[in-house]
Amino acid sequence: MEYAEYFQEFPDAYAKIVAGLDRVNTLYAYLIDRGLLDHAESVLSIGAGSGDVEVRIAKQTGRQIAVVEPSQVYFDQFMQNVAEAGVQDLLIEAHRQSFQDFQPPRQYDVALSLFSWFAFDLDRALLLKALACRAPEGKLLICLPTEDCPASRISAFSRSGGINLTSDRLSHWARREGFDHDYDIYHGVVPVGLYLQEGGLTEQGKDLASFLAATPWDEMSDELREASLEAIQAGRRGDQIDHASGCLLFDAGKHAAAE
Ligand SMILES: C[S@@+](CC[C@H](N)C(=O)[O-])C[C@H]1O[C@@H](n2cnc3c(N)ncnc32)[C@H](O)[C@@H]1O
Repeated sequence: MEYAEYFQEFPDAYAKIVAGLDRVNTLYAYLIDRGLLDHAESVLSIGAGSGDVEVRIAKQTGRQIAVVEPSQVYFDQFMQNVAEAGVQDLLIEAHRQSFQDFQPPRQYDVALSLFSWFAFDLDRALLLKALACRAPEGKLLICLPTEDCPASRISAFSRSGGINLTSDRLSHWARREGFDHDYDIYHGVVPVGLYLQEGGLTEQGKDLASFLAATPWDEMSDELREASLEAIQAGRRGDQIDHASGCLLFDAGKHAAAE
């Protein structure tokens, strides 16, 4: 299964997982605290999904948003989110297509790839394309799970192609290729009880494992189920599970992009 197909197949499972992470609040707060939107007027989101964080940005900060999203289901949800939030005037572009096919009509102050770079892997031409979406003083932020985070540990045995990329791998590769960037960690935490119960996984824990492994729980071998449990337990920090994500910030004002 290709990466884009994977989201066509499991849109509801992904929505449930994201809801569990309370991502709109925590990721939005991370972007603001990081100063990512300072001096920015326009934000392009590559692989925006249903765009909850992007809509929050528009509503709370008045930034203009543009999105690229190939999945019809997510694209429709995004348009609905825009309408419900009443931020139509701040939506400058909505492209229902892959980033590969996207022809940027302009440059943006901030380009974001929030958990969508799986689709592009270690592709130099696509990284150059994303960097070129930035205005001269603009920034590109790419967030992906770290290799230690439960999501990456489970994705390592996924049946879907492309889902195995981690922030560590992308960051090391990008530096080797000459694309300097800052790197820090965003912690998306959930209470332990959401995924773990006495002796095993909760229904939501099973959903998470099934989604990441691209394998329905009923079809998983005992070995795969045990590995999923261990992967989630490994993310335990006290009474929380930490979905740590590495964020690569390519800041045109600070670093030149390798040509
Ligand atoms: C893990 S989801 C992340 C969605 C959203 N950014 C978020 O953080 O919730 C990955 C997204 O990348 C999109 N995607 C897959 N292949 C893509 C491609 N070739 N170009 C752009 N987006 C793609 C998927 O449709 C999906 O919406």
